[in-house]
Amino acid sequence: MGTYYVKGNYRTAESRELKKGEIMKFPYSQKVLEHFRNPHNVGKIENPDGKGLEGSPACGDMVAVYIKVNPDTKVIEDAKFESYGCASNIATASIITDLARGKTLDEAKKITWKQASEELGGLPPIKAHCSVLAVEGLRAAITDYEEKHGLVTEKEPTTEEVIRKRLKHVMNPLTGLDIIRTNLILKTTIEDGIVRVVVDLPANHQFAPAIKEDIMEKLGSLWDVERVDVVFTA
Ligand code: FES
Repeated sequence: MGTYYVKGNYRTAESRELKKGEIMKFPYSQKVLEHFRNPHNVGKIENPDGKGLEGSPACGDMVAVYIKVNPDTKVIEDAKFESYGCASNIATASIITDLARGKTLDEAKKITWKQASEELGGLPPIKAHCSVLAVEGLRAAITDYEEKHGLVTEKEPTTEEVIRKRLKHVMNPLTGLDIIRTNLILKTTIEDGIVRVVVDLPANHQFAPAIKEDIMEKLGSLWDVERVDVVFTA
């Protein structure tokens, strides 16, 4: 791996902005830099068949992956991503969406962060979590598709823990972090297939409809959930 440095207005692993002229001393391969500067498959797919949103506890960054799937062959015909992460995350999301296109869901599930890192000519070890994040985003999009199409074979009952875990994949647009970590969720319950989620925001808040839609999408596809009620505090 050659040694390249990124400087400019980027974020560090500690999620702080670099000062002007400060050099980020992570060695990046030429391929990482190519995918970072000209990432493939950037953007959002409207009405995707599957969508995954993953956040990293290590740095607070997030990545969203969208897929279009052929319903007969289960081949991923299109894959795109939006990243709020660093150069490694963007480069990994770029390469894994390339790798996923043309693969069946089962084949795409087997793409690992190690494989992505190798394709990129290696990543600094401190940046491993960034590529894991992108790979998990793709896996979450595949799981989302499988749940929506009744393809999940291991059916665990939905508990409050499952609900909270799911809600970690809903972003709070006020902060760019998920709604659990930012304490936006006051209470969750599940009873007879009815989920109730209490959100600490007024119903007329500008982000309330988007958050509600995301929550309903994340929880509504669970096999034993019949209805999702999202309640705002005022
Ligand atoms: Fe957050 Fe890389 S430092 S994704």
